[in-house]
Amino acid sequence: MNITFLLNGETVELTNVNPTTTLLDWLREERGLTGTKEGCNEGDCGACTVLVTDADSAKALNACILFLPQLHGKAIRTVEGASGPDKEPHPVQQAMVDLHGSQCGFCTPGFIMSMVASHTNGATDHDTQLAGNLCRCTGYAPIIRAAKAAETRDVPDWITADQSFFCSQIPRGEAESRGAEPPSHLPENSNELAELYVQHPDATLIAGATDVGLWVTKQLRDLGPVIFLNRCDDLKQITLTEEEIRIGAMVDMNRLGDALADLHPSYAEMIRRYASVQIRHAATLGGNIANGSPIGDNPPALIALGATLHLRKGDARRSIPLENFFIDYGKQDRVPGEFVEAVTVPRQPDRLKAYKLSKRFDQDISAVCGCFNITVTDGTVTQARIAFGGMAGIPKRATHVEAALIDNPWTLDTIHAALPCFADDFSPLTDMRASATYRLQTAKAMLERYYREDQGEITNVLEVSA
Ligand SMILES: Cc1cc2nc3c(=O)[nH]c(=O)nc-3n(C[C@H](O)[C@H](O)[C@H](O)COP(=O)(O)OP(=O)(O)OC[C@H]3O[C@@H](n4cnc5c(N)ncnc54)[C@H](O)[C@@H]3O)c2cc1C
Ligand code: FES
Ligand code: FES
Repeated sequence: MNITFLLNGETVELTNVNPTTTLLDWLREERGLTGTKEGCNEGDCGACTVLVTDADSAKALNACILFLPQLHGKAIRTVEGASGPDKEPHPVQQAMVDLHGSQCGFCTPGFIMSMVASHTNGATDHDTQLAGNLCRCTGYAPIIRAAKAAETRDVPDWITADQSFFCSQIPRGEAESRGAEPPSHLPENSNELAELYVQHPDATLIAGATDVGLWVTKQLRDLGPVIFLNRCDDLKQITLTEEEIRIGAMVDMNRLGDALADLHPSYAEMIRRYASVQIRHAATLGGNIANGSPIGDNPPALIALGATLHLRKGDARRSIPLENFFIDYGKQDRVPGEFVEAVTVPRQPDRLKAYKLSKRFDQDISAVCGCFNITVTDGTVTQARIAFGGMAGIPKRATHVEAALIDNPWTLDTIHAALPCFADDFSPLTDMRASATYRLQTAKAMLERYYREDQGEITNVLEVSA
């Protein structure tokens, strides 16, 4: 595959690219740009953070799980390109020096690039912006102080004059795929994707690569033929009508969170705790559903909202309730050559609460994710959709619990009477994230939490004042 991108302001044209070479390996091994560090090589530590700009935005991304074809037509800035033409430090670099934000320095290039992204975008929620960068020696206080200090420092002219900090100016040409080994494709839209996938049903689809990247970096898998979805802009649309919200498969988690902030704020807040800013910029809704994970955060929330999944194979389309997509652990209702096109969620008054329980508050996968959407009319439960991740081999509805609530008064007695039904709905596993007993107990506690919050009680430990 032949691709073009900007690297620290210079145009790079690559021919016969191995499609599963990561940006991190290429930077360090082919370009000698060793400022970008390898810590975990799986998206967890942020040491490899780079700034990637496309036509309209600048994003911090993890280079360790970004494949080169995902960068076609974009501009990349590494820590070597963060300073000015005469080596003047970027305002965030100067602030880190002034406020003692670095000791061993291994994490520092990644922090700098996340801070450059925040500085470029005017983001000031530094705890959130830096949640995907781990520091094991300096500690976060000086780093956050530096990020805050940089907010008000003058932006040098060499930054405002360099458009590649803000958007990519590379013409959007087609990537040349012909004759490449292993076969790899970069379709320009979903029609091309549909045609290619019917021709190559054995190909691996790559969306954000936050799962697939690890198959390569950790499992050392040879993926064979691959089809990248990152150029399919028509799959990146979010459309809002009076009846529904339609979310394209390639919508990333940060955009999804923003789109849901007013409609379903609890869902948006859960997404804020989904991995890190870097992962959320890459991870897509389609990937989070198609991977069939029992602990993906979107499926329980979407099932509780009554979402419909739209699948496409060639020119044939079908739509199914999302919950029916998950058949069994590792088994989904998707035939070869068929891909996820979109999800639609019916518009409704917001009654959704999404509770994510994980060992770490930020940047961690759920042990249990419970999503509750309960309608109460004149003091009686008239509708209930409750779905969980982490309680079974698939994301699953709590149908016995729902039945125990519906047509009953909305009282604590009804909640308590429904609790034994969790054991009819779920037989959770014990694994490294949680024991079966803990999972079952915590699922019950979530239902009571929902009720108490609905009565106006504060239940979130972050909101309870001492
Ligand atoms: C550090 C880290 C933290 C994470 N934290 C969380 C978390 O908090 N919550 C959570 O839910 N997940 C988390 N994940 C998992 C991951 O981010 C998600 O599963 C993600 O949504 C996958 O989307 P993607 O676009 O990266 O998919 P990819 O990795 O590109 O693909 C995943 C799978 O889906 C298939 N696929 C992708 N798009 C389509 C499509 N449109 N149609 C059909 N098949 C498709 C691919 O072929 C592949 O099998 C984390 C991952 C990492 C590395
Ligand atoms: S090396 Fe840890 S996130 Fe990339
Ligand atoms: S300064 Fe050593 S890990 Fe951050």
